[in-house]
This record gives sequence, structure tokens and C-alpha cells, in this order.
Amino acid sequence: MQRKGWFFISALSVAVFLSGCNSDEGVGGEGSGSGDEQGEIEIFSWWTGAGEEDGLLALIDYFEEEYPELTVNNAAVAGGAGTNAKAVLATRMQGNDPPSTFQVHAGEELIQTWVAADMMEPLNDFYEENELMDKFPEELIEMVSSEGTIYSVPMNIHRSNVVFYNLSVFEENGLEPPTSLEELLEVAEVLDAAGVTPIALGDQEPWTATHLFENILLAELGPDAYNSLWQGELSFEDPSVVHAAEVFGELLDYVNTDHASRNWQDSAQLVGEGEAAMINMGDWAHGYFLNDLNLAVNEDYGYFPFPGTEGSFNVVSDTFGLPSGVSNPDEVKEFLGVLATPEAQDIFNPLKGGIPARVDADESNYDVYGQSAIEDFRNGALTPSLAHGSAMSEGYLTQANQAVNIFVTQRDVDRFLSSLENARSE
Ligand code: BGC
Repeated sequence: MQRKGWFFISALSVAVFLSGCNSDEGVGGEGSGSGDEQGEIEIFSWWTGAGEEDGLLALIDYFEEEYPELTVNNAAVAGGAGTNAKAVLATRMQGNDPPSTFQVHAGEELIQTWVAADMMEPLNDFYEENELMDKFPEELIEMVSSEGTIYSVPMNIHRSNVVFYNLSVFEENGLEPPTSLEELLEVAEVLDAAGVTPIALGDQEPWTATHLFENILLAELGPDAYNSLWQGELSFEDPSVVHAAEVFGELLDYVNTDHASRNWQDSAQLVGEGEAAMINMGDWAHGYFLNDLNLAVNEDYGYFPFPGTEGSFNVVSDTFGLPSGVSNPDEVKEFLGVLATPEAQDIFNPLKGGIPARVDADESNYDVYGQSAIEDFRNGALTPSLAHGSAMSEGYLTQANQAVNIFVTQRDVDRFLSSLENARSE
């Protein structure tokens, strides 16, 4: 069973960028941030793109209708997957200026970064009062907990191991969705020979290449060994990991040449517009296709599990907690209480492209993609995303992103894998 123990990974150090942070000084005092004025909730996230922002604004509207006496300050910082936002957040947390609440991935990003630094308030009473204990999958509550104390509230579930593809391009080239890494390479070769970019990548921010690599690992290793790798029980020297790195290198031969100057949206756009055939991106890309490019799922673009990972669901979950030191914790809890409702989750997630974290949300609010993702999440072997902060600490991920970035240009498998192995102990 893959649904347990994801986050019991070695006691890794708190993120590098927090190294100067002293939790005794940084927490517990009266917050001084603009976000903790009485009557105001400052929501900090990196949801500024199409789909993401649509979901966030709809959530804010809903909250303000429910609580007209409270106002929301939307403090979103642009930069895909939080590259910029996380840096701003770290500075603010260190300066005892926490936002009222902030987007944080379930798993190690929450636990090893913020909980380990003693900067989050326990939410067990909040869960009891709002009768939430059985409203989220148990495994998800485990991911936002440390030693039985719960620290955040999940807003959504995104799937990392999904590929979106341009239907016309596949049809014109007589192709079917590949179901294994070998088939993926074959399909890529056919497309390449036909003059179409097989795989879109936008690794201006290197996490997108890490995202691709994590799914190649999942395909090559299967969910059990994938989990063992992050739990330190499988070495990066294992032949299956070496093979995954080799396949990664081969697939990189099929990406757009300008990948380093594109972000995830720009690269997804290549698929939406038929200039590239496929993209492995979290299903926030579904929200982007719908809300920005006005495309229709199963008419303009289709989706399939990342080849070789059918039956697994590589989980990304955005959550919100209560930082220590905010001056209006009860008001912040009102916001958390709203985002935990099925109504709020069903307003936010169809726009954002993912699925609700709650087990009792109303499936009829979701389109064909969302319904299939809900089904796959329920039945799949759940695995934690590396690129999106669940599998390993923020410090490890920073180093993994650097190693991936170097690999993308140098393609040195040995160097790549030893960097990933060595980063475990740093
Ligand atoms: C977040 C998503 C977001 C994506 C791209 C991921 O890390 O979990 O909510 O849409 O980054 O910005």
C-alpha cells in the first residue's frame, strides 16, 4: 500500500533559505504584517496565472459573501510553482511579518520548513470544531500533520502524472496515447520525423523539468520503489533509477529548442496551439487551457496518465495554515473554515483544473477530466510529488532542481544521480 509513510523521510534540515531563521525570535509575538490587521485576511499564494487566479478570485468572492465584515487582501506573487513567492514568504516569516495564511504544499514543504521551524499553529481543535476529521482522506491529513498535530487545511488535489496532448496533432499523425515509456519514445520519434515538436517543456524555472523526471521515475520504478527512493531505502545508483535518468535524457531530445526561455504556461500554449504535441504538467494546465486559451477538453486537447504510471496518482496538494504570530487568528480561522467547505472547494477547483481535497464534494461540478481524476485519485496508488514539495524537504528540492537544470544541458547521468544522492545528506 502506497498510502502511508510518504513523509517519514529522514529528518532533513529545514530549507536552506531558512537557515538564518531563529524561531524563538520569529514567532509568537504580535504580528506586524499588513495582512494581520483586524478585519483583514491576507492570503498569500502564487496563483496569478489563468485558471489559478480565476479559482482564487472566485474563492475570495465566496468568502466575502459569507463574511461581509471581513476583507481579503490578495497577496499573490507571480512565478510558477512558487519560485518567487516562496522567497518573499521566507523573508516575511523571518522578519516576523507573516501573512494571515499562505499556500503551502502538503508534506515535507509544510512539515520540514514551517512546522520544524515552529512557525505554525496547531489546528486539531479547529478540525474537531469544524467536523473535518473524516472529510479529507486520512493520508492527506497525515501529510499535513506531524506527530499527531495537524497544521494546515487542504484546498485541492492536483495530479502530477498526467499528459495533455493536442488531439488534432495526434490524429493527423495517426497516433494513439502511449502507455509505456517505450511507446512514449516511439510516439515522440514519429512526431519528430513529421516535423512536430513532440514534447513541450518550459524550464525557465527548473521545476518543470524536475516534474517530468519525477514521472519518469514513477513509470520506471512503480509506486513502491518510487516511495522507497524518497524514503532513503532505494539508492540513486539502483539500475532502475539509472535507466530512468537515461530515458529522461532521451526524452529531452524531443523538447522544444527554446524550452529554457519559456515558463509552464508558455510551453502549455505550444500544445494548445498545435505547435507541440504533448506536455507533462500538473492539471493546473487544464485550468489554463480552459480559462486562458478557451480550449475544450476532448475536442481540442485530451489527456492520459503519464505513460507507465497508470494506476498511480502522483499527488500535489495546496494547503493553508495559520502562521504563528498573526494578530487575528480567529478571523483567519473563519477563512480556513470557509475554504474547507465542500461549497468553496467546488467553486475553486473546477476553475483551477484540479479536484477537491474533501471526500464529499459534489462530482457533478466537475467536467469529464475532473471526474476521471476524482475516480483515479480514489482508486490509485498515491505517491508524493518531488517537484511540488511533498516528497522531500525544500532544501533537498532546491538542490534537486539545480541538478536537473545541469542535467538538461550536460546529460551526464552519473553526475546527475550522485548529486541527487549527495543532496540527501546535506
Ligand atoms: C501548485 C499549483 C500551481 C502550480 C503552478 C504548483 O506547485 O501546487 O497550485 O497551479 O504550481 O503555478
